[in-house]
Amino acid sequence: MRADDQSSGNEWFPDDSDEGERATGDGESDEYDESSPDQQASDDPAVQAGERNVAAWHPVAAASGYPPDSPSSASRPPPRMLPGDERAPLRILAVGDIFGGPGRDVARAMIPRLRRERSIDLVIANGENAAGGRGLTRSTADELFGAGIDVLTLGNHTWSQREMETVLKDETLPILRPLNYPPGVPGRGFLDLHVRGTRVRVVSLMGRVFMGESLDDAFRTMDDLLQITPDDAAVFVDFHAEATSEKVAMGWHLDGRVSAVWGTHTHVPTADARILPSGTAFVTDLGMTGPQNSIIGSAVPQVLQRFLTGMPVRFTVATGPATFNAVIIEIDRRTRRGRGIWRRDHWDVVL
Ligand SMILES: [Fe+2]
Ligand SMILES: [Fe+2]
Repeated sequence: MRADDQSSGNEWFPDDSDEGERATGDGESDEYDESSPDQQASDDPAVQAGERNVAAWHPVAAASGYPPDSPSSASRPPPRMLPGDERAPLRILAVGDIFGGPGRDVARAMIPRLRRERSIDLVIANGENAAGGRGLTRSTADELFGAGIDVLTLGNHTWSQREMETVLKDETLPILRPLNYPPGVPGRGFLDLHVRGTRVRVVSLMGRVFMGESLDDAFRTMDDLLQITPDDAAVFVDFHAEATSEKVAMGWHLDGRVSAVWGTHTHVPTADARILPSGTAFVTDLGMTGPQNSIIGSAVPQVLQRFLTGMPVRFTVATGPATFNAVIIEIDRRTRRGRGIWRRDHWDVVL
C-alpha cells in the first residue's frame, strides 16, 4: 500500500448522519446476515451453553487531528489480496499466544473450522510461544500459515530463537515484531493488506510496564503511525503487555482511531470484550492457545518448583488437552468501526 494513496478528509471515523439507523441494524441489513457469528451457528454446543458476548453499539464521536501525511512507503511489498464478498462486514479472528506443539495442534484443528463456519476474512495470531514455548521459527510459522493464519504477531519472545533475526528480514513473510522496538532493529511492526477491497493495517506493539524490554513509548509510537495511516484503513493492534492497566489505557488512547485493540502476553483471557464509546473493539487479553493443564503453557511441576524454591529450573511445554482462546471481531467496512466482538474460547480440546 502506498501511504500517499489516500481518501480525502481528516476524520478517521466519519460522523455520519445515519448513525442512529445503523445502530439499530437497519442500515445494511438487506446486504448480509445481521446476526452475530454465534447466532449463525447455533448448533455449536458452546453457543447453546450460553457462550455469547454481543457488544452493544454506542454513539460515535468523530476522531480528528490526524492529518494525512504522505511519507513514501514504496519500499514495502504490495498488499496481499484476499478473496471474499465485497458487501459483508469484515470478520477478524484474533488468536491468543500459540504455545508449543499443543498450541499449534489446536490452532490447526480450530482455525480452518472457524474460518469456514464463521465466515472469517482474516486471522491474526500471536506466535511468540509457538516454538517450544519460546519464540517462533520459520518452520513453526509455516505450520501456522498452513493452519489458516494470515498474519503472525510477536512480543517479548521475538528473539528467543536465533534464526528470527534472519526470518524477520524477509518482508515477504507476514510476521511482525513489536513496532516500538528502537530504530535499527530487524523486521517490521506493521503490515498492510487488502481484504475484500478494504485497506487493513495490522500492528504488533509491546507495552513497557513490567516487561523489562528496551522499547520506545508505545502510545506515541501509535500516534506517529496513525499520522501515516490512510484514513480509510481498518487498523488492528495486538498490544503485547503485562499490565492490564496499560492495555486498557491503550484501548482508550486509540478509541475512535483504530478498528480494534486486543491484548496478549498474560496467557489468561479477560472477560471485558466490548466496543469502546468511539467505535474501537477492545479486549484486555485474548488468553492462550496451548496446553490447558499448565502454568501459562509450561508444565506445572517445574514452574511450581521455581516458585517454591527460587532455584533455576528448565521449563518444558505441558501436555494433555488444549485450550483455544480467541475473539471474533466484526468491522463495518464503510466506517471501520467495530460492530461487535465475541469471545471464541474452547477449553479441554482433546486432540
Ligand atoms: Fe509475551
Ligand atoms: Fe506469550
